[in-house]
Amino acid sequence: MTTEILFSAADRYYRYAVQELKRSLPVVDHVAVGEDAGLIRLDGAGLAEVAAAARSGDLRFVRHLAEVTAHRPAADADDPAMIIDLAASAVPADGPIALQVWASGRSRHRPEAVRAAIADRLAADGREVRRAGCETVLAVCLGERRIVVGRARTADALADWPGGRVRLADSPHQISRAEHKLEELFSLLPLTIAGDALDLGASPGGWCRILLEYGARRVHGVDPGEPAPALARRPELSWHRTTAGEFIRRTQRTFQVIVNDMRMDPLQSVRTMITAARLQRPGDLIIITLKITTNRPVETIDRALENLADSYKIIFARQLHHNRNEVTVVGRRR
Ligand SMILES: C[S@@+](CC[C@H](N)C(=O)[O-])C[C@H]1O[C@@H](n2cnc3c(N)ncnc32)[C@H](O)[C@@H]1O
Repeated sequence: MTTEILFSAADRYYRYAVQELKRSLPVVDHVAVGEDAGLIRLDGAGLAEVAAAARSGDLRFVRHLAEVTAHRPAADADDPAMIIDLAASAVPADGPIALQVWASGRSRHRPEAVRAAIADRLAADGREVRRAGCETVLAVCLGERRIVVGRARTADALADWPGGRVRLADSPHQISRAEHKLEELFSLLPLTIAGDALDLGASPGGWCRILLEYGARRVHGVDPGEPAPALARRPELSWHRTTAGEFIRRTQRTFQVIVNDMRMDPLQSVRTMITAARLQRPGDLIIITLKITTNRPVETIDRALENLADSYKIIFARQLHHNRNEVTVVGRRR
């Protein structure tokens, strides 16, 4: 029996999402829906298997998933009434529904207008419609090539946002845009941050601020650059104006959390983490962004994770919405 799955990825890394899907799952067919969304047909596997592969770290470039209930060529879907009918026929039997509509590539439809029309129809049928926070997601992708309607248990969708495009509000205390990467990760993977944290490549200090906000007792920021003035004033921050290698060689401290957002070749960045492993105890946490390019990123990440595996058990590896040319990796000290 075959099942069709709708998936999203970053547009620049879409083909690598397809590459990883094909090597991990029984994919018999693939078609692009738009620049950052596609359909795969699986023989003998379904959404649960794809979601499990993503959670296990095998699919680093897939951001969002749903099981397809219907799709049509975009050229045949000029009339929004047809999209509304497709969506209405995909609604599960009961319970509130998170209705998520997005466009992939150039679509003649405006997602908010289509969403409002579908929500009106479902409300008229007596259904409770929300944006997020339900057991089931009704996903409508207005692709440049195809209109796709799908459904997912929220846990299997991987992210409770239309197409996985997580939108986070800017805080007035924000130090850098990089903060959103860590906030997005914490929204997808609940992690307990406690004790002392080490932030490698910390300047100007956005990640230091977020770590303190999420419960770190003290943060040691390491960077040849400077911290933002508002952060430098905080008593729970220690700043070390040096390189990661130099700091790791000299310190005698231990850290429950080590984060690394260094702009550095990914294999060199991993080597740095391996030398830092002596500063941690079993179960302690690392969070790294591996900087990649569109040249063989799957192979690069494979090697990086393989090298890390002796010291760390990888619990998450994915390109987040706020990651541009990078992948976020989380591990626990063995
Ligand atoms: C993307 S920025 C970090 C942004 C930071 N996470 C934030 O939230 O504000 C990357 C940083 O890595 C630092 N970096 C690069 N190589 C480094 C090294 N060998 N040791 C320490 N820091 C390094 C750079 O100086 C730069 O400030």
